[in-house]
Amino acid sequence: MCGIVGILGREPVAGQLVDALKRLEYRGYDSAGVATLENGGTLTRRRAEGKLSALEGRLEREPLQGSVGIGHTRWATHGKPTENNAHPHATDKVAVVHNGIIENFRELREELIREGATFGSETDTEVVVHLVSRELKRGQSPVDAVAATLGQLRGAFALAFLFAGETDLMIGARRGSPLAIGYGEGRMYLGSDAIALAPFTDRVSYLDDGDWVVLTHDSVAVRDADGKAVERPVIKTAASAALIDKGNHKHFMAKEIHEQPEVVGHTLAHYIDMAEEKIDLPHALPFDFKNLKRVSLSACGTAYYAGLVGKYWFERFARLPVEIDVASEFRYRDVPLDPGNLAVFVSQSGETADTLASLRYAKEHQQHVLSVVNVPTSTIARESDVVMPTLAGPEIGVASTKAFTCQLAVLACLAIAAGRARGTLSREDERILVRALIETPRHMSEALAIEPQVEQLAHTLAKCKDALYLGRGTSFPIALEGALKLKEISYIHAEGYAAGELKHGPIALIDETVPVVVIAPYDQGFEKTKSNLQDMVELSRRAYRPAAVFEKTVSNMQEVAARGGQIILISDPKGVAEGATESLVTLTMPEMPLSVTPLVYAIPIQLIAYHTAAVMGTDVDQPRNLAKSVTVE
Ligand code: G6P
Repeated sequence: MCGIVGILGREPVAGQLVDALKRLEYRGYDSAGVATLENGGTLTRRRAEGKLSALEGRLEREPLQGSVGIGHTRWATHGKPTENNAHPHATDKVAVVHNGIIENFRELREELIREGATFGSETDTEVVVHLVSRELKRGQSPVDAVAATLGQLRGAFALAFLFAGETDLMIGARRGSPLAIGYGEGRMYLGSDAIALAPFTDRVSYLDDGDWVVLTHDSVAVRDADGKAVERPVIKTAASAALIDKGNHKHFMAKEIHEQPEVVGHTLAHYIDMAEEKIDLPHALPFDFKNLKRVSLSACGTAYYAGLVGKYWFERFARLPVEIDVASEFRYRDVPLDPGNLAVFVSQSGETADTLASLRYAKEHQQHVLSVVNVPTSTIARESDVVMPTLAGPEIGVASTKAFTCQLAVLACLAIAAGRARGTLSREDERILVRALIETPRHMSEALAIEPQVEQLAHTLAKCKDALYLGRGTSFPIALEGALKLKEISYIHAEGYAAGELKHGPIALIDETVPVVVIAPYDQGFEKTKSNLQDMVELSRRAYRPAAVFEKTVSNMQEVAARGGQIILISDPKGVAEGATESLVTLTMPEMPLSVTPLVYAIPIQLIAYHTAAVMGTDVDQPRNLAKSVTVE
């Protein structure tokens, strides 16, 4: 996660760019840079390794005078935090700042090098610069050059472009990572968030996913992903709102749901060497996975469900048995623990009383204690032997969303690392599974596109008294989480079940008033190689070796349909084609490797809960009787 800013000003802007970057430093601070148009149009950069003060020093020694510029504070994903890798990246024609991941940079880079481009950095960003330059050299206008370039990029990202000789032009683009436009008097701004822009203006609009914008000093032209001109509402922000800003969402929960492609990408980048496509844990572990006999996993609420998905992954990838329990049981169950094994605790706040007590129990029984936490200064983090942070940023909505998917991201990386260490995954398996993770933020962005359909559906769901959620395999914990989300914020009674358990009780509840949400990614054989994506799906299936349960879930769905139940099927195009006949509504997710479906399928179940609650008018961000952090038993 990096911070980006752009200013179309009337006076020298380097100082303002640095001020804005200071407000974005929470997003990353391993190197920074600015570029301005000097002497009427020459792109000139100043970059520095380390914190912003290093860049400030550089600018004092070698000031910039341009009144149009872009800036960046970096949190390294591709390439070390050196000056060469710092943004802006530039040719003599265009400079770019970038936040997020360009997934297909390797292919693009090879193609550009074959055509004679010389690269000065190890970053994924630099391909964007060369692609735009290539279009400009072919005689395209800057706007057309950016349009052509965006069409070639895959991934979740935000970009800002500055062009040599164009002192009244800046272009921004958003796909998966946030970007805001600030409106000044004869001045225009771009920033990763409104906080960065707060000193300059309180009039802000947020780009929707897929939007891109062409700015001049006096005009704003936004286009959507299809190139259609669109308007995005300008809202007045409270400059003092600091980090707690809802953007253009009605609730923090909605904002946090939408942040997921970005924060999951950010979290993954912390644990993955993107260039090598391998797991690269930030710290050496004080134990060897090879010597472990068992992992004990414990957590509460949503974090517990993340752990439950983790159990499937650890057992599948690393053939390592995982015992999992809610922390309030674990702590009192007098669990026998063989010394020297691993105990994992998952917690957003890092302060949950039962989770902390379980951690202390594990420590007393000589377990290696590893925690996955979102608040790195929390008690659980402090008392752990190893801390694996989720980089979700502050989560304000009481019902956890982005922390959950970031917990999944960390657990997936850890399980793959365990599989490698124990020799149950080959290097090739690792590469395939990691590649699938790298592409997940993009699939999450695509999954968000079903929101209008869910908004419609919410009007039906809001009239229900009960709902059931069904899933098998890693979709089972997602069913549990879906039911929990709906209960928490809409107060509709909901239960999540392993689909196979339906006939052992809950089927008695089914009638035409009970909606049944079925989470069932397609997992049968895939025909060979129609596209890269299908290759990827098939390869990852071989690395992951999941049991095929789709058809079994569909049979359970038919049992529901036969009793008049209202089915909401969440699947991918193949699953929808095969299983949709009986359903009331189908929510189609993109096709993706099965190993990552929990991260992506979390999005529709969050949206279902959110929009149902929004229709009902409940207090979505602070639902009755709940607390964000439960520090009592
Ligand atoms: C509370 C919150 C849940 C959360 C659970 C565990 O119940 O409302 O959203 O999942 O606590 O919290 P933790 O901070 O340990 O993840």
